[in-house]
Amino acid sequence: MNPPEDLLKAARNAAKNAYAPYSHFTVGAALLAESGKIYTGCNVENSSYGLTVCAERNAFFAAIAAGERHFTALALSAPKAVTPCGACRQVLAEFCDATLPVFVTDHEATLTCSLTLGDLFPSPFTFNEPGNTMP
Ligand code: THU
Repeated sequence: MNPPEDLLKAARNAAKNAYAPYSHFTVGAALLAESGKIYTGCNVENSSYGLTVCAERNAFFAAIAAGERHFTALALSAPKAVTPCGACRQVLAEFCDATLPVFVTDHEATLTCSLTLGDLFPSPFTFNEPGNTMP
């Protein structure tokens, strides 16, 4: 699938608000809900490093708090194109199925890759029997 430019731009823009004084790795996420609205998030670090929250989870939690439950695509932008961390993949899998397109790009728009949640995280933990939810 072709990456939607507006979603990539929203992710790059969200990264401008990242609070990353420790890693200096600024990340922005943009989540397209079925309603058509885009929800964004950035990483927020903490001097107690383990309390850092990733951009993807901040975008998801903002969308959920706004009442959204169904999502169409996620875009992620970082200094280089990287895929979501394992914890964020599990959170993604709570709300999205394996077909969710995940677009990863960098702030300079030099490289954009198109993946799916199923590519990234084929067997999430759920309370369902194994094999019921993801291929
Ligand atoms: N980070 C994200 O925001 N998303 C990811 O998927 C991976 C990592 C952030 C967390 C931390 O602030 C910085 O990137 C370096 O790990």
